[in-house]
Amino acid sequence: MLIKYKKALEKITMGLLSFIPADLQLSTLQKTVQQYEDNPDWQLYLWKCEEDFVGVIGIEIQELTFAVHHISVNPSFRGEGIGHAMVEKVQELQDPRAMQATERTKDFLEKCWKTTYSI
Ligand SMILES: CC(C)(COP(=O)(O)OP(=O)(O)OC[C@H]1O[C@@H](n2cnc3c(N)ncnc32)[C@H](O)[C@@H]1OP(=O)(O)O)[C@@H](O)C(=O)NCCC(=O)NCCS
Repeated sequence: MLIKYKKALEKITMGLLSFIPADLQLSTLQKTVQQYEDNPDWQLYLWKCEEDFVGVIGIEIQELTFAVHHISVNPSFRGEGIGHAMVEKVQELQDPRAMQATERTKDFLEKCWKTTYSI
């Protein structure tokens, strides 16, 4: 289930973002979360599996499109389709805006655009 970020989820969100290799440093993680908190066009969502938050996806909304800047899943839950499910759910939420990738997210998103998973 996709849940919108709120301040109470800051620590768990930073933990999930820290699985993105380039975002490992605490100062980078804090800046990343701050950017999403400060700007209403930047939105973070967490994936909740039973009682655990196991994934995060961050998007920037534009007029006709939205870009996926961050996506990360707890290593213990990878390969179960959670990454694909988060991509699919944010697309549903943002419809009819078209999804765009960034340099960092393009390899995984291109895979998602080609594959259909069921979770
Ligand atoms: C990328 C990531 C979010 C995928 O999450 P996930 O829940 O394991 O993804 P799914 O289970 O939906 O899909 C798994 C498939 O995606 C592939 N995949 C995983 N990471 C990938 C990547 N960076 N590029 C392309 N494909 C990737 C897997 O090999 C697997 O392929 P298969 O189905 O052919 O075996 C997860 O691997 C992760 O958190 N990685 C570290 C953070 C990161 O690098 N994020 C991307 C840049 S911001």
